Amino acid sequence: MSVPIVRTVAELRSVIAEWRRSGASVAAVPTMGALHEGHLSLVRSALKKADRVIVTLFVNPKQFNSAADLAAYPRTENQDAAKLAPLGAHLLYVPDATEMYPAGFATTVSVAGVSEGLCGAFRPGHFDGVATVVAKLFLQTGADFAFFGEKDFQQLQLIRRMVQDLDIPITVVPCPTVRETDGLALSSRNVRLSPAERAVAPRLASILVETAERLARGSPVLPTLAEARAGILTAGYREVEYLEVRGEADLQPIASIDRPARLIVAAWLGETRLIDNLRIPSSSLLADQMPRACHEFAAGTASLIAVRLP
Ligand code: PAJ
Repeated sequence: MSVPIVRTVAELRSVIAEWRRSGASVAAVPTMGALHEGHLSLVRSALKKADRVIVTLFVNPKQFNSAADLAAYPRTENQDAAKLAPLGAHLLYVPDATEMYPAGFATTVSVAGVSEGLCGAFRPGHFDGVATVVAKLFLQTGADFAFFGEKDFQQLQLIRRMVQDLDIPITVVPCPTVRETDGLALSSRNVRLSPAERAVAPRLASILVETAERLARGSPVLPTLAEARAGILTAGYREVEYLEVRGEADLQPIASIDRPARLIVAAWLGETRLIDNLRIPSSSLLADQMPRACHEFAAGTASLIAVRLP
């Protein structure tokens, strides 16, 4: 069994129109290909939610900062199609650059606020490229649902903002980050790591876990981040581009964990840039401190502890 492939907007629309006539719901999973288990987890979630699932595969030139990075991006259409077939995805949409951006193309979708700072500060124009292509994919497919990974947390929040602001009738469904068993978040860029770098790489995730737990326990934000940054460099990363705590919904900087927050990082390991993020688990405070609090109450030695419910 193979997945049908379409390459033009016209073909895409005619397949979807047929589905719509039979009353089917439609989900889209936008990707740049080089599919791994992270992408496939989005496809599996989409298949549970909608009657028909379109995976889009387009290495979007507008979101790359350098021609070299664009040229080096893996292109593995045949392997990607082979991975999708057993899952039961219904359609693979693979436009080329002239189909997506015909001569004279002149429109940019730009989302202020959430796109500023973090990756936005280090990759000028990147999020305009993402917003523009995702808006086009939403309009081309007319899907009811679109699935995105929390791995790219700033991208996810940017797309949610865009959908809300432009009244695009699509439900954005966030999906958890899929990791290797040692914690490293799956990424198409991981194949670029040398064996020595691959051995060091998961320290980024483990430092994030330790740091998020310390922050949840009330450790002060700036010194805790400074220690984490030092730990990442000691582990063998070449540079920490950013390591920040941001409000989860609006991605605004926050000085203390007084609302749902996210710890977000980008760091260079040799010539490979890796990103990751983690929710700061206010629930761990409850999980760790409640048993002790109960014991202290039983022993009559309790002092009041303030526990904020998540
Ligand atoms: P790409 O990097 O191919 O990622 C496609 C989708 O897979 C994104 O929603 C991303 O967050 C998700 N993803 C990647 N790694 C993941 C992991 N380890 N766990 C869970 N989900 C993961 O992101 C893009 O492409 C592009 O910017 C795109 C949205 C397609 C626009 O061009």
